[in-house]
Amino acid sequence: MRLLFLGDMVGRSGRTAVWERLPGLISDLRLDFVVVNGENAAGGFGITEEIFHNTLRAGADVVTTGNHVWDQREALSFAPREERFLRPANFPKGTPGKGSGLYVARNGARVLAANIMGRVFMNPDLDDPFRTVEAELAACPLGEQADAVFIDFHAEATSEKVCFGHFVDGRASAVIGTHTHQPTADHQILNGGTAYMSDAGMCGDYDSSLGMDKEEPLNRFTTKVPKGRFEAAEGPATICGVGIDISDRTGLAEKIAPLRLGPRLEETVPAFWR
Ligand code: FE2
Repeated sequence: MRLLFLGDMVGRSGRTAVWERLPGLISDLRLDFVVVNGENAAGGFGITEEIFHNTLRAGADVVTTGNHVWDQREALSFAPREERFLRPANFPKGTPGKGSGLYVARNGARVLAANIMGRVFMNPDLDDPFRTVEAELAACPLGEQADAVFIDFHAEATSEKVCFGHFVDGRASAVIGTHTHQPTADHQILNGGTAYMSDAGMCGDYDSSLGMDKEEPLNRFTTKVPKGRFEAAEGPATICGVGIDISDRTGLAEKIAPLRLGPRLEETVPAFWR
């Protein structure tokens, strides 16, 4: 099966580019399942219900999030009733919404999608992501209840991301990192058959600081005096993500390659899907 993941949509520029390009990608590349991270889609901070629904309408099967999930307060009310909306699974017990779900892909495969957050340089109070994924995989093992397992690991530290990948190697189809917004070049298939990439990059304006207008972040680095708020950069977006080809027989990954489309970074589409 063909699974496409798109990294964090940032602001109007990022979400509009995804909404415009995704329907064509689904038909041209004959995609079976699409996951999009939407935690920065509303002006860089959180996601609204309308943005969530428009992303599903564009063809996403699941929208994942991360540390900014509740920045738009309305997410607290729509999260519990939206099957296809995921917040990090290792939030405290009783948090609205859910961190994983089992979905049926266009090819009929049952896909377990999970959103888990790292703790290093982030929020040390979250539940242990390693124990969390252990429980998720035990409840819905690859090759039994699930034909494919996709995990968006939303984390800051590359070391935590890499170790998390090794931890689930052979038990998940793919572990893809989000949150740092800059795509990494380390996409690979781990020894046990799990596709891994430290960060998918963002869908947003790369003439920016991580999708935000660069003026204020630069000002804060140089003067330490805040002058204004962080605003999402409004220039044309480059969408970044990763394509994963998953064996229908084993549920493990056979191929992985980045996808980048837009004016700023070198464009690429997984060659094995052409
Ligand atoms: Fe984040």
